[in-house]
Amino acid sequence: NKIIRTMKAVIPAAGFGTRFLPLTKAQPKEMLPIVNKPTIQWVVEEAIDAGITDIAIITSKHKQAIESHFRPMKGLESTLAKTGKLRELEKIKEINKSANFEFIIQDEPKGLGHAILCAEKFVGDSPFVVLLGDTICIGNPNCTRGLIDIYNLNGKSVFAVEKVELEDTKRYGIVSGKEFERDILKIEYLVEKPNPEEAPSRLAILGRYVFNPDFFEYQRNITEGIGGEIQLTDAMQELAQKDELYSWTFPGKRYDIGTMKDWFQAHIQLSSKSEFSELLDEVIDNL
Ligand code: UTP
Repeated sequence: NKIIRTMKAVIPAAGFGTRFLPLTKAQPKEMLPIVNKPTIQWVVEEAIDAGITDIAIITSKHKQAIESHFRPMKGLESTLAKTGKLRELEKIKEINKSANFEFIIQDEPKGLGHAILCAEKFVGDSPFVVLLGDTICIGNPNCTRGLIDIYNLNGKSVFAVEKVELEDTKRYGIVSGKEFERDILKIEYLVEKPNPEEAPSRLAILGRYVFNPDFFEYQRNITEGIGGEIQLTDAMQELAQKDELYSWTFPGKRYDIGTMKDWFQAHIQLSSKSEFSELLDEVIDNL
């Protein structure tokens, strides 16, 4: 097996964010702030920490703010330079320079599987990483890096899961399989958003994946599934049946910023680990 250290990354961020309306009508869910940066910047930084330099963000016409955040903004840069705000200038330049960004428009949010298909040309003929643009993962090893290392064991597609409360199975893709190694399952069955009584386990897909390029063939053959969307989980089920697919229980924390609870929690927990921790304590003491 050839060891692959660097992969391209695809970050889907083109959904309507309907669960968060009206908050997400004009403000993309992926741009909601966590401490001092937008959610999607945390996601991009995870990819970069895992050694990735080429990133495609799948976005939509209505979500221009995402592209603006990662593109140079000449007027702002020259004003910061002229007024001597060099630290601020460095900070915004850092984001633009941190990777090669490509922005791919998904015309309509037809589902996560469809969003990933939009990146087929960008990915080409190599294994690639998918990171959901509304999900922050914190842990050591970094979730994406951990998956790439596992991928390199046998060259098979692999994705991250976490154990959720039984009542939460209806919010996620749920998996079951045979133990392959500690924390790694060979997947037998995946189901999208099952009710607790139908869930095959409490292991939920958390939004980080490494796929072989032939994954696109499986995804292309998938028609509309649950909720009228072209589901990623359906293509993964095909892959698990016809080839091999593995899950890894990520030993860290996942925040699903598409839920109010995780958005609040991420902001508070990550603020308490940041340079703003004293300020946070002061705010909480004064509540
Ligand atoms: P979600 O299903 O959580 O996002 O998809 P959503 O569809 O925007 O949210 P709701 O259910 O309407 O509230 C996870 C990620 O996949 C992206 C979303 O932007 C989000 O970051 N996505 C989803 C796409 O890029 N395209 C799609 O068609 C669907």
